[in-house]
Amino acid sequence: MATIVSLLVYFSIASSFFVSSNAGRKLLNSTSVSTNGATNFTIVCDPSRYSNIGLNISDFAFCDSALPYDARVKDLVDRMTLAEKVQQLGNKAAGVPRLGLPKYEWWSEALHGVSNVGPGTYFDDVVPGATSFPPVILTAASFNESLWKEIGQVVSTEARAMYNLGKGGLTYWSPNINVVRDPRWGRATETPGEDPYVVGAYAINYVRGLQDVKGTENFADLNSRPLKVSSCCKHYAAYDVDNWLGVDRYHFDAQVTEQDMSETFLKPFEMCVKDGDVSSVMCSYNRINGIPACADTKLLKDTIRGEWDLHGYIVSDCDSLEVMVNGHKWLGDTGVEASAQALKAGMDLDCGVYYPNFTESAVKQGKVKVKEIDNSLKQLYVVLMRLGFFDGNPIYNSLGKKDVCSQEHIELAREAAKEGIVLLKNANETLPVNSYKIKKLAVVGPHANATTAMIGNYAGIPCKFISPLDAFSKYGEVKYEVGCDVKCPNESLIFPAMQAAKEADVTIIFAGLDLSVEAESLDRTDLLLPGYQTQFINQVAQVSKGPVILVILSAGGVDINFAKNNDNIKAILWAGYPGEQGGRAIADVVFGHYNPGGRLPLTWYPADYVDMLPLTSMPLRPIDSLGYPGRTYKFYNGSTVYPFGYGLSYTKFNYTILSAKRSVDIKLEKTQHCRDLEYKQGEKKPACPSVLIDDLDCQYDFEFEVEVRNVGGRDGGEVILVYSKPPSGIASTHAKQVIGFQRVFVEAGKTEKVKFVFNVYKSLGIIDYTAYNLLPSGSHTISLGDDLVTFPLQVNLV
Ligand SMILES: *[C@@H]1O[C@H](CO)[C@@H](O)[C@H](O)[C@H]1NC(C)=O
Ligand SMILES: *[C@@H]1O[C@H](CO)[C@@H](O)[C@H](O)[C@H]1NC(C)=O
Ligand SMILES: *[C@@H]1O[C@H](CO)[C@@H](O)[C@H](O)[C@H]1NC(C)=O
Ligand SMILES: *[C@@H]1O[C@H](CO)[C@@H](O)[C@H](O)[C@H]1NC(C)=O
Ligand SMILES: *[C@@H]1O[C@H](CO)[C@@H](O)[C@H](O)[C@H]1NC(C)=O
Ligand SMILES: *[C@@H]1O[C@H](CO)[C@@H](O)[C@H](O)[C@H]1NC(C)=O
Ligand SMILES: *[C@@H]1O[C@H](CO)[C@@H](O)[C@H](O)[C@H]1NC(C)=O
Ligand SMILES: *[C@@H]1O[C@H](CO)[C@@H](O)[C@H](O)[C@H]1NC(C)=O
Ligand SMILES: *[C@@H]1O[C@H](CO)[C@@H](O)[C@H](O)[C@H]1NC(C)=O
Ligand SMILES: *[C@@H]1O[C@H](CO)[C@@H](O)[C@H](O)[C@H]1NC(C)=O
Repeated sequence: MATIVSLLVYFSIASSFFVSSNAGRKLLNSTSVSTNGATNFTIVCDPSRYSNIGLNISDFAFCDSALPYDARVKDLVDRMTLAEKVQQLGNKAAGVPRLGLPKYEWWSEALHGVSNVGPGTYFDDVVPGATSFPPVILTAASFNESLWKEIGQVVSTEARAMYNLGKGGLTYWSPNINVVRDPRWGRATETPGEDPYVVGAYAINYVRGLQDVKGTENFADLNSRPLKVSSCCKHYAAYDVDNWLGVDRYHFDAQVTEQDMSETFLKPFEMCVKDGDVSSVMCSYNRINGIPACADTKLLKDTIRGEWDLHGYIVSDCDSLEVMVNGHKWLGDTGVEASAQALKAGMDLDCGVYYPNFTESAVKQGKVKVKEIDNSLKQLYVVLMRLGFFDGNPIYNSLGKKDVCSQEHIELAREAAKEGIVLLKNANETLPVNSYKIKKLAVVGPHANATTAMIGNYAGIPCKFISPLDAFSKYGEVKYEVGCDVKCPNESLIFPAMQAAKEADVTIIFAGLDLSVEAESLDRTDLLLPGYQTQFINQVAQVSKGPVILVILSAGGVDINFAKNNDNIKAILWAGYPGEQGGRAIADVVFGHYNPGGRLPLTWYPADYVDMLPLTSMPLRPIDSLGYPGRTYKFYNGSTVYPFGYGLSYTKFNYTILSAKRSVDIKLEKTQHCRDLEYKQGEKKPACPSVLIDDLDCQYDFEFEVEVRNVGGRDGGEVILVYSKPPSGIASTHAKQVIGFQRVFVEAGKTEKVKFVFNVYKSLGIIDYTAYNLLPSGSHTISLGDDLVTFPLQVNLV
């Protein structure tokens, strides 16, 4: 029954997609569908293409669009010999000429814009660049879900346009949704920060932006749901050591408890697969408790495909199999063994050559069934069918050159940077600067003329950079001095920068990090500004005539307590890495064309934090016996430079809770048992401390409405962060956790009402040390912002 219903849905959508219909066969004719002048892509099941290569398309049932995808991919795979099959299992899928199946490059990247990092996509005279949005950590700081989705939509539009022009792929291995467990990790720039829920929410929105075809978001049969482009959540899992004091990801064995796994490391991936319906997941280089992630049946087959029901394929990180053999030396593996193990574990596609090179032998030696290969190939071809690789996807045919780097897309890159920028300090309301009152500006520091630094890694070629220097030059007479570069190895150029500051009405210092300090394969060893940067900033601030504004470019937090406490530095902005329009976005904020509302997606720890624990220690909770503090705002109770969620505005907001449910009564049936929970010594434990959430069948929601009043003098956006805190007394659980957030725009003097609805289990549950998800009874606390308002929510288990 279910199958019949879904087929009907499939056809009703399909018939509106395909142009011509001929006795049940709905195919496009030509390889160059020329609606936009220069299209250049292959539609596999094009009759004229088949006749051109001397084949009769009627002989190939996999090209019969009247058949369901599962029947078509079975037909395709059944036609291949073993030798042909294994040649399709690498990112450079060879194709099968005798079947009219062309080659395909699976590897493209689109982390924050279409990138040329993967070989499937490139730039040339036809498409010289694509819109380069801010690296994800800054966009995350906007806490604006519609922005995250809209960026995904724009990136997929540019990707489709490039595909039409023969310059791009259809399968993009983005986003990176690893939780930033430690401030030293080099890849924080690629991610949405340290909170698993926020990271998951980012993943859902970005993935839906990339993948969803308008009008088909709620397609009945998810295995044939059309895809705009295919997205991939990576790197699964517990991947967050790149290269730290000689420990690298190719050798690292992450020791992770099941509790941390469920609560932190897997959570964003679960949200990405279940709620984002992503069509691919990438397994990571590292081992987890001894087993390489890409060879772990429990993590891949049982969890991603089984429990979460992935509609798509699992791909390795590039050369993961080689890493398994030569790095991890797992079970003294050979390429044949590694390939067999990974296939059996559920890894479908190898970014690399091990599958193509070794799986034929693995089958012949009896180490893996051909069926495993067939199943993987079917996953791959269904994704390509959903993308229109076989039948075309006419709704996108009109996309071309004009749709890449359009003015609208470039404006969205600027908007993303503005929305993400975080105001960290604004003594005496120095910002915004009134541009009418200034004539001379000193624009100094290593990032004052930043260009490539603004787009970070996994970037493409941008449409056009607007550096801070370009942007600030529009506001007055600018004196530019670099002071020193990011590494700032000496003081030789500091003096000229001081001279510039002495004469200017306002001094803007652009400092911070770049990829030479924090990057893939490069973790930090400290949290300070590099070299003489601190000295440079202090010396310039000391002599400046006008107010000093410090702008920090970085992904990870930096210990800038010196600047926070320096009265000569009036204002501090964190601008992440702000993308191709970064200079303009920063100027918009500095001169008050935009009121900043971004919030830090990461805790900024004091510098000594990293002396207290090694990057390689995976637990989130403090380890008292070793003196290790906890990690992230959920488990770290020490002082911070700036906390997670921090961010000021040029106006002020206050909150009033209008209506809120104050208690939830859950009636336990005979077969639902109270579970014990560990309470801290001396704390009173309720008679029924908790219940196992999996045991409960009824769903319970709670909701409240909050009135946000803008009590200041400027319009502005406010991020409402909602946390839950478990009843006090429960041992070794999080201090609080984000359960939801919304960004709302409120005009000066006005109010907006914002409604939140939460699922009790998802929002109040805790993962205990057994990795069970438990709902504690007692008085939970709901907190908005940094305890701006709080109210209790009583859970009664009766
Ligand atoms: C396909 O080819 C036929 C015959 O050459 C032609 O009549 C028809 O217009 C073509 N359809 C498309 C969509 O190009
Ligand atoms: C179309 O693709 C072919 C093969 O990849 C290439 O040789 C040709 O230059 C492309 N044409 C255009 C207009 O991009
Ligand atoms: C292609 O095959 C179909 C079905 O076998 C047949 O009817 C048709 O005549 C063939 N066309 C050509 C050009 O050989
Ligand atoms: C959120 O982002 C959208 C763009 O998708 C933007 O139009 C909107 O103004 C943003 N909301 C706030 C409150 O800033
Ligand atoms: C894989 O096979 C190709 C083609 O035979 C060969 O050039 C390459 O060296 C092989 N690589 C490995 C790692 O086996
Ligand atoms: C700013 O950077 C751009 C791009 O690297 C460079 O062309 C330009 O000369 C720089 N401007 C100054 C004043 O150094
Ligand atoms: C001083 O540092 C700059 C980079 O900021 C570098 O170009 C220069 O070579 C250094 N000079 C000396 C003497 O080391
Ligand atoms: C702010 O202004 C007050 C009063 O003019 C002054 O005393 C104080 O030093 C100023 N603070 C800073 C950080 O500039
Ligand atoms: C903070 O955490 C540490 C490490 O677990 C613990 O020893 C200390 O008592 C905690 N401090 C407070 C104030 O809770
Ligand atoms: C919010 O601000 C308004 C106007 O200043 C004030 O009347 C109201 O009491 C404030 N509400 C809260 C909850 O602080």
